[in-house]
Amino acid sequence: MNEPNRGRARAERPRRFFVETWGCQMNELDSQRLSGRLMEEGMLPTREPSEADLILLNSCSVREKAEQKVYSRLGVYRQLKDENPGLLIGLCGCVAQEAGERALKRVPDLDFVLGPARVGEILDVLAERRRGKRPVATGFPETLDHDFDSISRDGSYKGMVTIVEGCNKNCTFCIVPLTRGPERSRTLGEIVAEVRHLVEYGFREIELLGQTVNHWREPGGGEDGPDFADLLDAVARVPGVERLRFVTSYPRDFTPRMVEQFARHDNISPYLHLPVQSGSNPVLQRMGRGYSIESYYELVADLRRARPDIALSTDLIIGFPGETDEDFEQTLRLVTEIEFGSLFAFKYSPRPGTAAPRLGEAVNQAIADERLQRIFAAQEPIQRRLNRRLVGTEVEVLVTGWGKRPGTQTGRTPCHRLVHFPLEGSHPTPNGDIATVKIEEALAHSLIGRRNGEIGATRPTDVPSQLVVLRDAPTDAAS
Ligand code: SAH
Ligand code: F3S
Repeated sequence: MNEPNRGRARAERPRRFFVETWGCQMNELDSQRLSGRLMEEGMLPTREPSEADLILLNSCSVREKAEQKVYSRLGVYRQLKDENPGLLIGLCGCVAQEAGERALKRVPDLDFVLGPARVGEILDVLAERRRGKRPVATGFPETLDHDFDSISRDGSYKGMVTIVEGCNKNCTFCIVPLTRGPERSRTLGEIVAEVRHLVEYGFREIELLGQTVNHWREPGGGEDGPDFADLLDAVARVPGVERLRFVTSYPRDFTPRMVEQFARHDNISPYLHLPVQSGSNPVLQRMGRGYSIESYYELVADLRRARPDIALSTDLIIGFPGETDEDFEQTLRLVTEIEFGSLFAFKYSPRPGTAAPRLGEAVNQAIADERLQRIFAAQEPIQRRLNRRLVGTEVEVLVTGWGKRPGTQTGRTPCHRLVHFPLEGSHPTPNGDIATVKIEEALAHSLIGRRNGEIGATRPTDVPSQLVVLRDAPTDAAS
């Protein structure tokens, strides 16, 4: 930070890179993949964009606001070229796929565009740029490129594993099938091998990823081949997997055999993100979701029977075209009846190339805003109440990082609630370790507690990080 790049000549190759990530877990993992490839080439990450020779903006286009943000960020980064003429700027992620050449026209200083299915080609794209081109690598190759050895998992507390890419659902509001392409599954063997690799590396939490993660099927396995229930069963059996999560599940594709896995395997976290989008059948129908609200209630009841402590979270879209007061009241009723542990509610945003804008009259923005606020107001006391039940109990918290307040750390309970706890003078618990925390206070969005027991006693050296040499555990360490 202290050494400005002023006047630095264009480096033959970029030496330091900075990646900024927006959007979902898939983008988060794609950023780890990009970083890994660059580090294999001898480049080093920096947290400071002004120190970078290469800036990658891994973008999200799911709502218009997220997309606008991308162009404003690119505007900021272009200015760094005044100081460092050698700086390269690449647009990655879903906006890259959607905009392609248009992004190059819109942002004159943009050096290249790299779609989400082409992440593995980052080094080729850089080489092309050196030859003077402004490459645009978009589209969806047939083969999936997942060289898991070259993913930079540095600093992460969870091991993310893509099991299925793309989406075939075509919900009428959603741009993702256009930006991430058709659905493609990885093989069970490959997935289990990657999970083993992550466990050996020190990760205790595994998160399986897919836009419709529970629609996974063994490629070429046919109707009777392994499905997501079999995959969950196989991954949960991998020794060392302490917490298994998966995101995002599509309600219609959640079968009784999948529900059963929650009862069978304790290490499957009692947490499920199950986006419902709306509580009204006519709206669900126009959204093209393919399930009724009654079947959603039934699925929730089945899940709670299989795993009484399960915490559910959901996504809601408020103000979908044609949403009436009555439709909205049903969504509100759903929120109060189901009692989600957390929820993500978004105001509907029209996306290019999607059918929804033609399927109903646009909802007045002031009305949509008011509805959104009513959802949040209904949800807050529910979360507070659910959180309060944990006060006085001891919970296993997977440590995820530093808290906002100095001297505090944060982590997640098995049901994915956020916990803050102070360090109290001793050394910090490494990210990815599990600490026992006694809960003392409940807020609507987090819990506050006090850590119990010897800190980091279970795995003193095992911080998942490429920048730290992992030593063998000392022979006298408690196991
Ligand atoms: N299958 C992915 C979907 C990614 S989009 C997943 O469920 O994670 C994530 C969420 O964004 C969706 O569940 C939906 O609630 C919201 N969303 C998608 N398109 C939207 C749009 N056009 N306007 C508002 N919210 C949208
Ligand atoms: Fe989007 Fe629906 Fe697929 S929300 S990602 S089209 S399941």
